[in-house]
Amino acid sequence: MGGETLMRKILDYGSRADPYPLYAELRRTPVSRQEDGSYAVSTYHELLALLHDPRITSTHKDREEAFGGQFPPSFIGMDPPEHDRVRGLAMRQFGPPHSPHRIHDMRGEMEATIRELIDAFPAGGEIDVVDAFAYPFPVTVICRLLGVPHEDEPKFRTWADELVASIDPRPGEDPSVRLREGAETRRELALYINDLIENGAGRSDGGMLFRLAADHDAEGGPLSRVELVVTAILLLIAGHETTVNLIANGVLTLLRRPDQWERLRREPEIAPRLVEELLRFEPPAQIILQRGALADIEIGGVTIPEGSVVAMVLASGNRDPKRFTDPDEFDPDRPDIEHLGFGSGVHSCFGAPLARLEAQIALTQLVRRLDNPRLLADPPPYRSSAVLRGPRHLPVAFDRVLP
Ligand code: HEM
Repeated sequence: MGGETLMRKILDYGSRADPYPLYAELRRTPVSRQEDGSYAVSTYHELLALLHDPRITSTHKDREEAFGGQFPPSFIGMDPPEHDRVRGLAMRQFGPPHSPHRIHDMRGEMEATIRELIDAFPAGGEIDVVDAFAYPFPVTVICRLLGVPHEDEPKFRTWADELVASIDPRPGEDPSVRLREGAETRRELALYINDLIENGAGRSDGGMLFRLAADHDAEGGPLSRVELVVTAILLLIAGHETTVNLIANGVLTLLRRPDQWERLRREPEIAPRLVEELLRFEPPAQIILQRGALADIEIGGVTIPEGSVVAMVLASGNRDPKRFTDPDEFDPDRPDIEHLGFGSGVHSCFGAPLARLEAQIALTQLVRRLDNPRLLADPPPYRSSAVLRGPRHLPVAFDRVLP
């Protein structure tokens, strides 16, 4: 089968439960031209090279217009040097060197949130791991991080739902309908965040949003109000569904391998390695669509012409046998888990430390407390998106919830 029809097949909903054999076919041509003139990159070394190549741009007018053209792009859609200024300012309130303890300090709160979610499971019976566990957790965490008051969390959660739906149209549905609805949600959310900052002005202890607004010492800062609002929406979108999918993919992967479930229960200290291997084996962000070539780029035996759209198939690179031994085996003990699950280069995932900690806590506590868990559907029903891939529901039966 030619590369062009393959990419279409990968995006087809029928391939969602197991796209990996299609990625293996795609890798036969590391950089393949599609019938619409775009290029798909599918092998590890070529992906890594292009993710670090300054001739690849992340700006794209079409997508901004699809979102209603109402806001300037967030830093995921910018190139250096603007990208680095905004990302650097946001990072000052999120991680090292300026805020090295921010994520670690949230650990206790995260553990308490997970405990409450598990305590609310019915005593013996069935749950949907997505709706009852994976889904409510990251949005609660991001609200605490940003400084959204507790009483506003349900509202925030509704917006998060709507934004996720806007990038995840049902199979067969016209995506532009959802995108328009998404644009309306962004407007509401932007107004809310703006009001929150107005009312909390000066509350530099209250959360990342307030600290960012008050960060007058930073070089090139602080972020303008519009940059701040757009960044907050980016953090919500980029950090929500991806983390939901990492946790749900993790539960599915472990329940398919009861020995691994049992091992994590006995040896919770392996959680960091296990989560890294999950990010390689079942990455929630499978494809970065719509990067662009700013010049002719020779790679993988072809020339990508200037102006072409480039799709980075990260999930395929993660299974490249030229880079990983036995790539289709789930093996947390592998010595070389340098995956592409968080991308690489200047846009590599901003929230990676947070996502890692969330998944480690969620999975460790779940395996400890569910007695005799069983998958009720395998494969489970998937969300429609091939790009942010994960189960829509994950029904699981168990005997009881342990204390
Ligand atoms: C398992 C969870 C996650 C996965 C798999 C994931 C994956 C990714 C990937 C692949 C990229 C690169 C995109 C590109 O190159 O265009 C990225 C960027 C980004 N992620 Fe994540 N992400 C996760 C969680 C989070 C969280 C929790 C946050 C926020 C708190 C977050 C915020 C961001 C931001 C802001 C960017 C853009 C970085 C930039 O352009 O410089 N992500 N993420």
